[in-house]
Amino acid sequence: MNESEMKMARLRAEEIIYRYLPEEKGYPATIVSAINYSVKAGGKRLRPIFMYETYKMFGGEGEVIEPFMAAIEMIHNYSLVHDDLEAMDNDEFRRGRKTTHVIYGEGMAVLAGDGLLNLAFETALKAFDVKEADTGRTIRALRVLADKSGLHGMLGGQACDVDADQKKKKLDLDELMYIHENKTGALIQASMEIGALLAGAPMKEVDIISQVALLVGTAFQIEDDILDVEGDEKLIGKRVGSDEKNNKTTYVTLKGLEESKKDAKEMSEKATELFDSIGRSNEFLRGLILSMIGRTS
Ligand code: IPE
Ligand code: IPE
Ligand code: MG
Ligand code: MG
Ligand code: MG
Repeated sequence: MNESEMKMARLRAEEIIYRYLPEEKGYPATIVSAINYSVKAGGKRLRPIFMYETYKMFGGEGEVIEPFMAAIEMIHNYSLVHDDLEAMDNDEFRRGRKTTHVIYGEGMAVLAGDGLLNLAFETALKAFDVKEADTGRTIRALRVLADKSGLHGMLGGQACDVDADQKKKKLDLDELMYIHENKTGALIQASMEIGALLAGAPMKEVDIISQVALLVGTAFQIEDDILDVEGDEKLIGKRVGSDEKNNKTTYVTLKGLEESKKDAKEMSEKATELFDSIGRSNEFLRGLILSMIGRTS
């Protein structure tokens, strides 16, 4: 995996996501503008890329993956718009520009997040309009999208994160791992599981890819905690020190920088081993998993 392959993958994902964004017209034009502001701000588009590459690895070829690629990025963006609110992490920069609530106000940012979540399901349901779509596979994929975004997924993780903040509670490693696996791991799991399911992968292989994704997602969040301490603001596009400002327990506050880096590396390597055990090949995806180690953005 090199820079230009990564860029191509990102542009492909972006072209698909943009196709499903609403038009800014009529009465609700402001919320549409807020939604598009947040989605068009850029970002790495990792979740749709993971989804697409997993789909390809399991032999997927059709267009049914496209609405799901857009949907997962919409759910991710909704989680970020809400995560940045004053009531949550209170952050004013993301992806190198002002956060949605700073530009559109708190109320509109809350609604833009809600709007993105709804739009994600409106979009994913369009998979049924694709001619070659297999109904059973599409329903299984929708179920994963719903489950991993909700109480036993991203939302559950975020809720425990906020709960600890509100109660000024210091977390132990088990509690923090629950948060990391859910607030971040779950959407990466959804991405790879959906890619595999839509391609018709055998359940045994879907299970393994799910474990791979959980390790990748957890390592990804540990790296995010590291970047919040020693990242370059220009590269990460957000302010460093957000976690410290909010007195958060992070992987770094529990284990220190060096151990955190070691653990993220071990998790990514374990993910690669499991990935290899499936016995299918996608060198780009394998490289992408390994590139999580010591990432700078
Ligand atoms: C940020 O996710 C929130 C976390 C789960 C760490 P990304 O780092 O994938 O954000 P973008 O989409 O690239 O901006
Ligand atoms: C947020 O974790 C994860 C989700 C939004 C689900 P963080 O709060 O650490 O993410 P950043 O650092 O603001 O991107
Ligand atoms: Mg947060
Ligand atoms: Mg945050
Ligand atoms: Mg963070």
